[in-house]
Amino acid sequence: MTQHFDLIVRGGTLYDGTGAAGRPADVGVIGDRIAAVGDLSGASADAVHDATGKAVAPGFIDVHTHDDRALLSNPDMAMKTSQGVTTVVVGNCGVSLSPLAIDRRPPPPLDLLGDQEWYRFPRMADYMAAVDAAPAAVNAACLVGHGTLRVGAMDDLMRPATEPEIAAMKERLAEGLEAGAIGMSTGLFYRPANAAPTEEVIALAELLQPAGALYATHMRDEGEGVMDSLHETFRIGREAGVRAIVSHHKVIGKPNFGRSEETLALIDRTQGEQDIGLDCYPYVAASTVLDSSRLERSSRVMVTWSTKHPEVSGRDLADIAAEWGISQIEAVDRLNPAGAIYFMMDEADVRRILSYPHTIVASDGLPHDSHPHPRLWGTFPRVLGHYARDVGLFPLEEAVRRMTSLPAERFRLSGRGRIAVGAHADITVFDPATVIDSATFEKPATPAEGIDCVFVNGTAVWADGASTGARPGRLLRRQELQRAS
Ligand code: ZN
Ligand code: CU
Repeated sequence: MTQHFDLIVRGGTLYDGTGAAGRPADVGVIGDRIAAVGDLSGASADAVHDATGKAVAPGFIDVHTHDDRALLSNPDMAMKTSQGVTTVVVGNCGVSLSPLAIDRRPPPPLDLLGDQEWYRFPRMADYMAAVDAAPAAVNAACLVGHGTLRVGAMDDLMRPATEPEIAAMKERLAEGLEAGAIGMSTGLFYRPANAAPTEEVIALAELLQPAGALYATHMRDEGEGVMDSLHETFRIGREAGVRAIVSHHKVIGKPNFGRSEETLALIDRTQGEQDIGLDCYPYVAASTVLDSSRLERSSRVMVTWSTKHPEVSGRDLADIAAEWGISQIEAVDRLNPAGAIYFMMDEADVRRILSYPHTIVASDGLPHDSHPHPRLWGTFPRVLGHYARDVGLFPLEEAVRRMTSLPAERFRLSGRGRIAVGAHADITVFDPATVIDSATFEKPATPAEGIDCVFVNGTAVWADGASTGARPGRLLRRQELQRAS
């Protein structure tokens, strides 16, 4: 009897996600699972995808996103599926869309996700129910943002939280974890959280340990104080007994160029004593809300959006200020609320961090900026095509591992990140010879080249250079992930 599958991805070179070299293998899918891997030339299928000459890999996992609202407002998620991404982790940098319901404009950086109209989920369970009711093309896992908790519990963000405020935040965090969040994030750099002492974060992070949840952080300082911030992150992880993820690891500002040698050495030493992870986006420019405190450290600043002057999106702040005949700091005041791209890293640091074996590739893309940083559409193909193939930072199988099994292990996304029998059928087929990012700082919303076909839970979401319209994505809840592992 011939074996029959719903789908066979036939004739490709398999990069299974573990870092093993590519080998010829077909992949057979039944329902939403991978049912066979190997020579399936004798098998039949309802649908066959010809992957001759292509690479077949697990769908990429973007662990650092701000896609909380995009899952609802842009459910085809083309900016991610066009890169081969099949799972996103939302709620990073202390900013999550829930649990919070407010009737005034959220303070920056919460406004990166939208205005008050979008902050309408008083409990994480409400947000998750909304995603369940209108699924997106990709899977998603949620972090609870400490900044979001603070905005919901405190009338004044410029001071440490009081005992009753910590108790209120704990209650909301506990609800989020109960609903299925996989962890908590902080953005200690940002104003809504900067006044929080380490002890406040530890008090909250203690709830994570019994849940087996993780702690991810946009650290307090990525410049002069980067070593202190790493120590703070490790202390939080140690005292709360949780694994810690250093988000978008970088060293910013010219005086700090080269210091990734120090930071990676410290991360490496600590790795032996506690569970530390890190992610990185492959660009020398950062992007977030527009803030004059970042001007001095940046060689160039581009405006990505402005509520008062939408017409200047995509232009350099220096040119805008010159045109208006005012200083850049005055221009910032006139433009805000707004967002920006800041050129503030050194290429050698970016390459050193990307090359570090524990570094996960992740985008930090900002999907609602009118002229977004190109990382939103370009991160994964840029690492595959530019940094792995053209620059030769690491072999293709290693690039794939940093986008698949490594993030799945660190974030405990069981059943994802590998091509293996029994795994969920999240599959990306791409052309290793041509894959490359096309998004640039000038034209950021441009889909990549060379991503052939992308399947989520066995259903094609990206094919022939366009979204298929299918939305097979699922919310990945912590309890289900733990049960499956
Ligand atoms: Zn961040
Ligand atoms: Cu971020």
